[in-house]
Amino acid sequence: MRLERPDTTGAPKLTTMIVTTAQLFKHAYGKYAVGAYNINNAEQAMGLFRGAIESQAPFIIQISKGARSYTDKRMLEAIIRAAGDIFPEAIFAVHLDHGDEATCYDCIDSGFFSSVMIDASHDPFEKNVEITKRVVERAHAKGISVEAELGMLGGVEEDIKVEDGHATLTDPAEAEDFVKKTGCDSLACAIGTSHGAFKFKGKQSLHFDVLEKIKARLPGFPLVMHGSSSVPQDEVARINAAGGKIADSSGVDVKEYLPAAKLGVTKINIDTDGRLVWTRVHREFFRDKPSEFDFRPPGKIFIAEYAKFIASRNQLLGSAGQLEDLRKSLSAK
Ligand code: G3H
Ligand code: 13P
Ligand code: ZN
Repeated sequence: MRLERPDTTGAPKLTTMIVTTAQLFKHAYGKYAVGAYNINNAEQAMGLFRGAIESQAPFIIQISKGARSYTDKRMLEAIIRAAGDIFPEAIFAVHLDHGDEATCYDCIDSGFFSSVMIDASHDPFEKNVEITKRVVERAHAKGISVEAELGMLGGVEEDIKVEDGHATLTDPAEAEDFVKKTGCDSLACAIGTSHGAFKFKGKQSLHFDVLEKIKARLPGFPLVMHGSSSVPQDEVARINAAGGKIADSSGVDVKEYLPAAKLGVTKINIDTDGRLVWTRVHREFFRDKPSEFDFRPPGKIFIAEYAKFIASRNQLLGSAGQLEDLRKSLSAK
């Protein structure tokens, strides 16, 4: 899917490339993971595109149901189109994060999304298969990729809260069966992570044993890791020093991103860490300048800090520096 722009300058034409996640995964599989970042507003979009271009990385923009209704779903689409115009080098997918069936259809019909996630992971296996199959049929008819989920992460997904004791890791045999039955393009697996800022007490590792078993049953099939924020301790300390009260907790060890990518994880979802950047910037700004009431100065700092954060994450995911090779391989088709 390409977003064509009229060439008014006479200069060689660069068109913004909105591609499917399936196209991104084909290039990344087994080598690196593509960062999937949630956005809700223009500042996040600017920081994301800037950081991606600085690090020369392809990326996935994720939009949740909550993000679509934060202002208006058309607002985010317009922001992304504008960002694509401002950064014509960018190669990215536009993806619905944690969709229900109705929202998936709305995004498929919008003509803007290149990929959707149907999350029926809270339903029993057979019902999850049924719903996912219906979404796959509607999406594939329009060339859109589908991510599905099997297993249950802890934490909060949209408005559903999964208590720690109820989180279940993905069963490798079920994963194989699920992919065969649904025809989905990628699968979000529960391998020990959870959504939000409160993931682990102390240091914990991903369940690489489960990942290895899933890969053995689904060789070459793209897997997705949700709940991948690292909850940087220095970020939390700065927020708390500026008046915050973020409880003691840790996230995914960033050194585990690449080993997971080598085992077939091609999409790594990061949202919470970006929210922590926002909170730190704004808390520190207003602590240090209590008489300030203009939102643009801290907004500008946030855009710069978020861009730095995105570039640093893309380095850790191995997606940094992949942009030109990906462009060549997409153009060769
Ligand atoms: O997994 C959920 C994402 O972090 C999106 O969060 O539903 O609050 O926009 P949200
Ligand atoms: P985090 O809460 O760890 O950033 O996870 C985000 C996510 O999985 C979005 O789907
Ligand atoms: Zn998620």
